[in-house]
Amino acid sequence: MVKATGSKYKRDIQRPILDKLQYRFSPFKFQQKALDDLHLSNMFEAARWTPSAKNLQPWSFLYTENGATSFDQLLNCLTEKNKRWAKDAPILMLCIYNCHDEQGNDNFYALHDLGSAVANMTLQAQEDGVAIHLMGGKETQQAKEIFNLPAKYHVSCIAAIGYYCLEDVTISEDYKEEAANSHKRKSRDTFVFKDSIRF
Ligand SMILES: Cc1cc2nc3c(=O)[nH]c(=O)nc-3n(C[C@H](O)[C@H](O)[C@H](O)COP(=O)(O)O)c2cc1C
Repeated sequence: MVKATGSKYKRDIQRPILDKLQYRFSPFKFQQKALDDLHLSNMFEAARWTPSAKNLQPWSFLYTENGATSFDQLLNCLTEKNKRWAKDAPILMLCIYNCHDEQGNDNFYALHDLGSAVANMTLQAQEDGVAIHLMGGKETQQAKEIFNLPAKYHVSCIAAIGYYCLEDVTISEDYKEEAANSHKRKSRDTFVFKDSIRF
């Protein structure tokens, strides 16, 4: 596994967690290099083996390579701030989920299961030195229209994907604050409880 230690903001890792978790982060820059098809296949296979409610596997992914018309279309669905850095990503990927079960009833767990699939994909990507930076900052309706999504499909995120840029993680002033904040975490005692919950 490539250890993406390039990030200059130290992470306060308090227990010896998996390298894939410890060294993962959401970069604003990637290597200017196309993604190997095998690495993409690995990611999607990892998503495929995600557990899901009633095994409905409600996730779908549309990916597009930088330079394709569909890349520009997807880029245009992002907020201006996200566009400014995501335009250089080798790959953009739309993450959507079917919010109905086979009977047409609401699948309450669909977004949960898409999130799990993306998490598995992210960890598998880490094995190959590939970073996935998720973006919720996008225009949902525009994405639904451009890509002709059926009504039962909801848009979750757009992901920027590429190889970690290990040598140079210098980021523009635009993202200094976000990058610094992204290396902070709440302490475990604010979200883990035993026997009773005390908020
Ligand atoms: C659902 C979701 C939406 C996000 N939306 C954005 C976004 O619109 N723009 C952005 O730059 N980062 C976005 N992020 C990235 C988070 O800011 C980042 O994961 C967080 O700050 C922790 O940083 P890390 O991933 O480097 O550990 C999003 C992440 C998630 C999971």
